[in-house]
Amino acid sequence: MSAERETIGVVGVGWVGLVTAACFAELGHPVIARDILPEKVEALSRGEITIHEPGLEELLKRNAERLTFTTEMSELLERARLLFACVDTPPTHSGDADLSRVRTVVEELPADGEHVLVMKSTVPAGTGHSIRRDRPGLAYVSCPEFLKEGTAVEDFLHPDRVVIGADPGDEAAADAVARLYEPLEGGVVRTDVASAEMIKLASNAFLATKISFVNEIANVCEKVGADVAEVARGMGLDQRIGSSFLRAGIGYGGSCFPKDVSALKMLAGNSGYHFQLLGAVIEVNELQKRRVVQKLQKHLGSLAGKRVALLGLAFKPQTDDMREASSLVLAARLEGEGAEVVAYDPVAVGAARGLLGGVEFSDSPLAALEGADAAILVTEWQEFAELDWASAAQRMAHPLLIDGRNFLDAKHLRDAGFEYEGIGRAVEDTVATSTSE
Ligand SMILES: NC(=O)c1ccc[n+]([C@@H]2O[C@H](COP(=O)([O-])OP(=O)(O)OC[C@H]3O[C@@H](n4cnc5c(N)ncnc54)[C@H](O)[C@@H]3O)[C@@H](O)[C@H]2O)c1
Repeated sequence: MSAERETIGVVGVGWVGLVTAACFAELGHPVIARDILPEKVEALSRGEITIHEPGLEELLKRNAERLTFTTEMSELLERARLLFACVDTPPTHSGDADLSRVRTVVEELPADGEHVLVMKSTVPAGTGHSIRRDRPGLAYVSCPEFLKEGTAVEDFLHPDRVVIGADPGDEAAADAVARLYEPLEGGVVRTDVASAEMIKLASNAFLATKISFVNEIANVCEKVGADVAEVARGMGLDQRIGSSFLRAGIGYGGSCFPKDVSALKMLAGNSGYHFQLLGAVIEVNELQKRRVVQKLQKHLGSLAGKRVALLGLAFKPQTDDMREASSLVLAARLEGEGAEVVAYDPVAVGAARGLLGGVEFSDSPLAALEGADAAILVTEWQEFAELDWASAAQRMAHPLLIDGRNFLDAKHLRDAGFEYEGIGRAVEDTVATSTSE
């Protein structure tokens, strides 16, 4: 059964908002999307995409006649009943979520019993209750978003699950939201607002915990001569554990995990509960980036005056998002040690320029590696797997590579003339083992 075509309002046209707008248009709905940044609205209205996200540009083009972009909230209120809030909720200095943009949106909405605020922004559990308490006439549905940058379109159109939270009185509004998702095949979890909010935070915190866990296992592997890639492979085959998010590396970054883990820890603390585990998850993640610098020092001694190439800057491949990217911490630590930092990324240099003042940017990986004393693979872009590493080794002053994502083939790199070190992997070649996965 296809959902009835209903004009949808989207408030905030960043990663989540633009993908939401494009995907609902793809499902056949007229969409009107509002952002407060006139330059963003103008660019999108001209058909120019504002972010790097695979498949999104085609979707926007294909559905252009169903998509309107505006800076005016009044246009949304006139045309749309369901208003999806997709504004940013960045961390405050205290580590809590900054809800100021959400509050601004709420203040602009009439509590007329007509409009429904559908919260896609990630907010602390309790936010929906307080909005409903302050604006009793405004119907409220929590519909947290689980898309991943880099595969956002795919994730939106093929969700593992869709979570829809509503409290008594808002069931009809929740039904209307559920109807929109009917053509998609993911299971729908209908629940109350606070539980929906908590599902989102707990999911991100769990994934971050898995990453910090495997990173600690990697650090122990280095001490005892085990290979974390083998350990993770063996662990991941256990269905109770699963193989995803078990890749050791330099830790998580991005606009969601760091802030959501911190927001959940703070939410717990503000409610009188000390969430000890999350404190460790955060600390392990911070230290993990610094361990890479120690690895370089082990090989090179002092880094003062050494030229270090960062391969990849974005917080993960297939995106140009630099929010909380590990490259920012690494570059600052390296510069703090007196190193000269040169960097290459296929799509994120534009976003990175303003954030990495002292860094020199190259327009190819080989140019970045020219004359370098060491390289760190920071983001696992496919083009690094396909690089001519023998030629890279010849161009470097010292062919040393720290693979911060355990992405490259260690033997291939060593055969190409590199000193290669990953995270939690044997420093020398190990005998490859296999299972019939
Ligand atoms: N990026 C992700 O991968 C992801 C995934 C799941 C959930 N989320 C959550 O979704 C929310 C949005 O994240 P994002 O990455 O899309 O943020 P973003 O920063 O990319 O986009 C937010 C947009 O909202 C606009 N905005 C701010 N105030 C506004 C207002 N009053 N009216 C209209 N527009 C306004 C900003 O100008 C910006 O364009 C956050 O709460 C985030 O935690 C993000």
